Amino acid sequence: MIRIGVIGYGYWGPNLVRNFADLRDAGVTMVADRRRERLGQVERRYPSVRTTTDAADLIQSADVDAVVIATPVEQHFDLTMAALRAGKHVLVEKPIASSSEQAERMIEEARRRRLVLMVDHTFVYTGAVQKIRDLTRNGDLGDIYYYDSVRINLGLFQHDVNVLWDLAVHDLSIMDFVLQRQPTAVSATGLAHVAGSPENIAYMTMFFDGPLIAHVHVNWLAPVKIRRTLLGGSRRMVVFDDLEASEKVKVYDRGISVDPSPENVYQMLVGYRSGDMWAPKLALAEALSAEASHFIDCVSHGSEPTTDGEAGLRIVRLLEAASASMSAQGRLVTLEQPV
Ligand SMILES: NC(=O)c1ccc[n+]([C@@H]2O[C@H](COP(=O)([O-])OP(=O)(O)OC[C@H]3O[C@@H](n4cnc5c(N)ncnc54)[C@H](O)[C@@H]3O)[C@@H](O)[C@H]2O)c1
Repeated sequence: MIRIGVIGYGYWGPNLVRNFADLRDAGVTMVADRRRERLGQVERRYPSVRTTTDAADLIQSADVDAVVIATPVEQHFDLTMAALRAGKHVLVEKPIASSSEQAERMIEEARRRRLVLMVDHTFVYTGAVQKIRDLTRNGDLGDIYYYDSVRINLGLFQHDVNVLWDLAVHDLSIMDFVLQRQPTAVSATGLAHVAGSPENIAYMTMFFDGPLIAHVHVNWLAPVKIRRTLLGGSRRMVVFDDLEASEKVKVYDRGISVDPSPENVYQMLVGYRSGDMWAPKLALAEALSAEASHFIDCVSHGSEPTTDGEAGLRIVRLLEAASASMSAQGRLVTLEQPV
């Protein structure tokens, strides 16, 4: 039985507590939140769980084997480092840290102490994204030409991070998992409509080696909620609409074929293919349940999580490049490629 302590019981923390509490091989022993009124809710719902307003109490507690951190990003580094130094495994919310330098230090600390460091890239554990990954990897979609996503609503304005660090993280983590290729350059533009606040609308374009392009549009100031992603391949195309109740993923057997005209080599003939559309069956389990289970598995067996510290670091590097580009009105920022 792995004993879990959760720090942060705001908006997202309750989902983590519920999913860990439901697992057979884990139990939630403690919850920390600075706000006393949040702890009252824990006590009413989970009478056997101890509560504290001091995260250090939880981290030092002898009946906590692993710490789950669901606080705003500015706290991720300090809390993760304190937990690792106390010998605890860590699952930390997205984005893993406020800078790539912090993420690198967290990875190093976990590696040195042989502890699990995992980041909550929730979408990676959804049936929809796993299906899209399978379709991509087994060649059903052909060569991937583009990733194009819109993630907008009247969202909660965050005070510590811009909209890219809040919403685009989801797309970047989906791309990281599905494409398994890293962008070579990034350009982003965006604006803040509240003086002194971070940007609440942003457009981020990513370039890769070869004919693949990605675009992510995120916005906290939209009158409607849209969560729609298109993945265009040379053989088939996918539309992922996360707001659809059942058929979230649709695969279109549509595309083009390009042949040089026999009469004139300078002229291309573009042929259109319009075949069937189908909605594949998806795993129905709640993503956080699959993810919590995966974390417990990694802690029990000392294995590397799918969304490990390195995955968190790759996303933070992209976010840093995008923020730098955005503050220079979209200047192209090139990214160092892993050797
Ligand atoms: N994976 C997802 O889909 C998803 C969804 C929403 C939020 N998140 C992430 O979860 C994290 C938290 O977001 P949220 O919306 O729940 O924020 P929130 O502000 O609603 O909740 C954070 C809670 O942490 C508490 N807290 C802050 N610092 C603390 C400390 N040092 N010790 C103890 N308690 C502390 C606050 O009192 C608050 O109750 C963020 O990193 C966010 O990006 C992830």
